[in-house]
Amino acid sequence: MDVTKFAIPEIIFGRGSLNYAGQCALRLGARKVFLVSDSGIEKAGWVGRLMDILKKEGIEWVYYPGVTSNPRDFEVEKGAEMYLKNGTDVIIAIGGGSALDTAKGIAIIASNGGRIRDYEGANRVSRPLPPMVLITTTAGSGSDISQFCIITDVERAVKMSIITRTLVPNISIVDPLILRTKSETLIIHSAVDALAHAVESYLSTISSPFTEMQSLKAIDLIIRHLPRAVETRSLDALEKLSIASVAASMAFSNASLGAEHALAHSLGGHFDMRHGVVHPILLTAVMRFNLDFAETKMGDIGRVILNTSYGSPRETALAGIDKLEEFFASFKVPLRFSQEMIKPEERHYLEPICKMAVHDACNITNPRPASWKELLKICEEVW
Ligand SMILES: [Fe+2]
Repeated sequence: MDVTKFAIPEIIFGRGSLNYAGQCALRLGARKVFLVSDSGIEKAGWVGRLMDILKKEGIEWVYYPGVTSNPRDFEVEKGAEMYLKNGTDVIIAIGGGSALDTAKGIAIIASNGGRIRDYEGANRVSRPLPPMVLITTTAGSGSDISQFCIITDVERAVKMSIITRTLVPNISIVDPLILRTKSETLIIHSAVDALAHAVESYLSTISSPFTEMQSLKAIDLIIRHLPRAVETRSLDALEKLSIASVAASMAFSNASLGAEHALAHSLGGHFDMRHGVVHPILLTAVMRFNLDFAETKMGDIGRVILNTSYGSPRETALAGIDKLEEFFASFKVPLRFSQEMIKPEERHYLEPICKMAVHDACNITNPRPASWKELLKICEEVW
């Protein structure tokens, strides 16, 4: 086996774990926290709740509410300016992937200077970042665990993948109680994102035994518990989705992803669509594309999805993909780009989008090398 590494933050998991946020910040030396979130989380009451927790511990804060979905370069750069101007130390973010990625981008600029686009790609951040406590309000993005940060470069209309070990936060807080205030749509979008992380990290050319076990466990938990979480909002099912998301995040943070995420980033940068809507459309198409290059591993995934196996790994893999398509269809989400996702007159943008996607860092670890023409063929198949 090749030399491998496995980096994860300290993870504080469980119902009510949000209450430990203040103590976590103190342990990291906080005197004046830089707090990052958005209006949705604020309206749901979680920002106020977090401020109460900080107040109880005697911690001051400066609040940056400038988070939007698909965070943009200028929002991150403005946040970094505010961080430095106010003499803040520990960064705490509460929210979904957008809020957490904004916080990570702010941490990079505040400590390394320059523009956020200077750090696009893998391992381009040289100086250490401010301490970070990231509190996730979804079970999907994995930004609270991972060494990834996705920021849109507005000028080029591209979602940049910034990947570096120093982006792993010091502490991740995962409180499944927060999921109870989420909409059904958001729970589905987040869970299918985690599922795509699990599948792509398992098939990645740099997966290891430490990531593979996390990937398979995440697939199993999402397939078994997402329907019940959506139907009943049972806390037990939501908690299982949180566990799945943490497992998938530990896997993809260390094994990276594949062509499906490369495409998802490129599409998201161009159309400003929500990340979670892309996976039910693209994931199984990319799996079929990869089949010849990862037959045994796709057989493993099929076995987990089906909870049984058929004859050869290839047969199991194909039956698993079919089952996954049924699974996505059961949530009544778009399964084709033409279903309210991309207007017919915008279809021609798929070519430049695929040309952009081949350069995304995630495409490098796809089990089957994918050219832009092959990516375009996949997108046309699911039009
Ligand atoms: Fe993702």
